Amino acid sequence: MKKILSLIAVSLLAVLSLSACNSNKEGAKKIETNKKILVAYFSWSGNTREAAKYIAERLGADMFEIVREKPYSTEYEPCTEEAKAEKEAGDRPAIKGKVENMAQYDVVIVAVPVWWYTAPMPVYTFLESYDFKGKTVIPFCTAYSGPSSTLDDIVKATPNSDHCDGICVVTQEQGGKDMDKKHDEIDKWLSDIGF
Ligand SMILES: Cc1cc2nc3c(=O)[nH]c(=O)nc-3n(C[C@H](O)[C@H](O)[C@H](O)COP(=O)(O)O)c2cc1C
Repeated sequence: MKKILSLIAVSLLAVLSLSACNSNKEGAKKIETNKKILVAYFSWSGNTREAAKYIAERLGADMFEIVREKPYSTEYEPCTEEAKAEKEAGDRPAIKGKVENMAQYDVVIVAVPVWWYTAPMPVYTFLESYDFKGKTVIPFCTAYSGPSSTLDDIVKATPNSDHCDGICVVTQEQGGKDMDKKHDEIDKWLSDIGF
């Protein structure tokens, strides 16, 4: 009897732990969710900002922009050099502001551009500033060619959380110019992870 009860308990746990990311094939236009969601994003040229705005609108989520205290150069080449040096040094640059009452959120979507095969260093400053235990962290990125280790690195930086599969939206544009062409891809992903 004891064995049967513990088997039932284990099965229930398995079902409950899957439910954060289960598949929803209905594809409803307005997403109803009782979860409190934060979209925390970093964006330099605007692609990730536009994607983050769209995701937040669909989910009725709050947004928080991760901004390095000392701004990066607005020129592409100098910015890439700064970012490269920062990555190679493993820096955790100071960021502006704080999320008000992080404890209220069940789900945190972390949306970033790929910078030198991973997330920009201020994103790790952000991820290391809060306790994400008991929350579901969902990685998302935009990139010129692909995610490299970015999605995995966000998962690794939040070891006490549950996770759902992320996606990488690839674009050769800057400034969020073609992000409206990516809505179907984002909708499909949201549906696949249960929203
Ligand atoms: C500093 C820097 C490094 C980048 N490194 C990569 C990279 O390693 N792989 C990649 O596919 N794209 C890379 N890109 C391109 C960006 O990931 C891509 O343009 C992204 O959509 C920009 O997002 P944003 O407009 O929100 O800043 C890099 C861009 C910058 C500025």
